[in-house]
Amino acid sequence: MPTKSLQRWNEDGANVKAALEEKGYTVDLQYADNKQDVQNSQIENQITMGCDVLVIASIDGGALGGVLKQAKDAGIPVIAYDRLITNTDKCDYYATFDNYGVGKMQGEFIVSALGLDQGEKGPFSLECFGGDPGDNNAGLFNQGAMDALQPYIDSGVLVVKSGQTKFPDQIAITNWESKGAQDRMDNLLTAYYADSNIDVVLSPNDSLAQGIVASLLSAGYGSSSKPFPILTGQDCDKINVGQIIRGEQSMSIFKDTRILANQVIAMTDAILAGQEVPTNTTYHNGVIDVPSYNCEIQFANKDNWKELLVDSGYYTLSDIPGAE
Ligand code: BGC
Repeated sequence: MPTKSLQRWNEDGANVKAALEEKGYTVDLQYADNKQDVQNSQIENQITMGCDVLVIASIDGGALGGVLKQAKDAGIPVIAYDRLITNTDKCDYYATFDNYGVGKMQGEFIVSALGLDQGEKGPFSLECFGGDPGDNNAGLFNQGAMDALQPYIDSGVLVVKSGQTKFPDQIAITNWESKGAQDRMDNLLTAYYADSNIDVVLSPNDSLAQGIVASLLSAGYGSSSKPFPILTGQDCDKINVGQIIRGEQSMSIFKDTRILANQVIAMTDAILAGQEVPTNTTYHNGVIDVPSYNCEIQFANKDNWKELLVDSGYYTLSDIPGAE
């Protein structure tokens, strides 16, 4: 797993480990502190130790080629977890969520929340954020969202005052860090929104949305004359569900990591039994089409978070700040 610094990877790691152990597998779970060179030496060790399958959520998906050549020589199957491993022919399978669909759902949420599909003409101000450029998902999220939003930018209904819409050059946030998002939002508010309120912020995930909310709060948002903008997110991190309840964030894509864990177990079982591996799509990784499985996504907002996240047993009420 890439890092312990974000809630989701701790949960992914724990879920996958528990589900595999329940089936009798021995699991070596490593976190790489968001450093691809650290992850590469962890993988090297695991190959040396003689593992049977590698499940990898990468940091920089294009920088594993060398170590995966060793996996190939050793005949060890590789499953890319959540993030595609690119620029290598040694990525045997990929289990993920519909990444393009995540961005599309965020973009369509904005369109519908503003009533743009009902003919609302605004104009509304929008700023866009993107994820880490080394993460293949970040480009897909951005593409999905912009496919929904670009027509309204082109027609002038959505106005990006900063003019910054290009991913990764203008809007990417390194390592998906909240602080990076907070700093960029501070700069945008100072430079372009001194005399007017911002209406919408496209954030691809929850760690960025946390930084964006911190920036909005320090700029005085959250009153009737300065209401919070529409703000998207992804992962339904506990802190962000709290932000949704308080009206600081509008939605978060829910990716049920229990389902992804089960998919990885199904793939692992099938690979080791020499059976057909369950897939429902392919992703091109620059070299090959990787047989892949896309899990489904949903979104949580102020109306459905409890049903989706608590009644489903994913969280307890006391997990979520301010929910009780
Ligand atoms: C994942 C997101 C996550 C982001 C930052 C992406 O690859 O798909 O769920 O928010 O990484 O960790």
